[in-house]
Amino acid sequence: MTPVRFACHGCGAVVDALAALPFRCPGAVAGDDIDHVLVPQDGAALLRRDEANPFLRYRALLSPWRVARAAGLPDAAWDDIVGRLDDALVAVDGTGFRTTPMTVERALAGAAGISGTLWVKDETGNVSGSHKARHLMGVMLYLRVIEAAHLPIAEDLARRRLAIASCGNAALAAAVIARAADWPLDVFIPPDADAVVVARLRELGARISVCARRPGEAGDPCFLRFCEAVEAGAIPFGVQGSENGLAIEGGRTLAFEMAERFAADGAVPGEVYVQVGGGALASALAQGFALATATGVIEHAPALVAVQTAGCAPLARAWERFAAAGAADAARRRSHYMWPWETTPASLAHGILDDETYDWLEIVEAMRSTGGRAIVVSEPDLARAHALAAQHTPIRASATGTAGFAGVLAAPPAGSAAVIFSGAER
Ligand SMILES: Cc1ncc(COP(=O)(O)O)c(C=O)c1O
Repeated sequence: MTPVRFACHGCGAVVDALAALPFRCPGAVAGDDIDHVLVPQDGAALLRRDEANPFLRYRALLSPWRVARAAGLPDAAWDDIVGRLDDALVAVDGTGFRTTPMTVERALAGAAGISGTLWVKDETGNVSGSHKARHLMGVMLYLRVIEAAHLPIAEDLARRRLAIASCGNAALAAAVIARAADWPLDVFIPPDADAVVVARLRELGARISVCARRPGEAGDPCFLRFCEAVEAGAIPFGVQGSENGLAIEGGRTLAFEMAERFAADGAVPGEVYVQVGGGALASALAQGFALATATGVIEHAPALVAVQTAGCAPLARAWERFAAAGAADAARRRSHYMWPWETTPASLAHGILDDETYDWLEIVEAMRSTGGRAIVVSEPDLARAHALAAQHTPIRASATGTAGFAGVLAAPPAGSAAVIFSGAER
């Protein structure tokens, strides 16, 4: 069987996704200070087919599809696996995966005082109301493929629960997809999780563990409890690339859709402003635009502009050090760049308050290669962005989901720009 390789961008370990689960890097040792993340090694491949479901359209760029083909499943088996899951998603939550809209928002650009074109990619109508479902659909498709192909690595999978640490959009996405796949899920949430979200998680059948901060413990307690569950055998079904290399890949479909649209419009924006929490979204976009460039869909990637809040900005802090140091050692001296935010963060954009930007390295490297930057926005910027988005567009996104646009307000682009509105307002 032709291997489907993932390589760790920190230690170089290589995993064949047909022979081992490409989740956490097998070379990771506690305390080694290496930034371990398994990244799919892409061959040159056809980017698109004439289909509206991104998991069908961009199949050739998805490692689960390549695993299916390498394991001897026919292409029709992929259609079947994606199609069944999609039907189940519609039954569970009313929506399956379709290319999401991207519009040029002139009134919003005017209100923000920018003269260039402003594209808004709207993920609020995506499965479970945000882009997060893209990340997790990639993981679920891999699980389904290795089961269907009867690979030895799938042997005891069915008795293992899925696990995720999140209090918002990622948890909802995980719960919807887990329910559609009929796979039991544990969700680790903070004590102040939104009651509406918790109620929906229960409705979807997720088992909930409330995780309080423990005195003297650094880092997000939900993430720490999630790690313990994974250690005990749960399947990492979260959106941190460090815990599951596959999670980033599905998110790349968002960049492919945007790239195709830019190509159709004949213009790539100068910058894409992205709200950054754990970093999966920005790192997926960075990888996706790089692939879209490599496969000739667009001529160059837009500059990646990472937006964080003053309440919690570990990536902006890492970027300063990375940009200053040249950073050849960044993957092997992680704690010099990235460490948990010291104070308990608070912000209107509560969905991007991750103590650490887990997927930071892919992001800062892309910021450097595309000429991007990091922006830290204030609470008034976040509030204004949220209000303007509601006033000047029909999209109802949460303040977390309009935080990238707050970056546009705080540090306007020189020319055209794109933002992603995600996380439907609840
Ligand atoms: C609506 C929305 N946008 C963006 C993000 C940021 O994603 P990431 O944690 O991958 O950086 C989140 C994360 O929860 C989110 O809910």
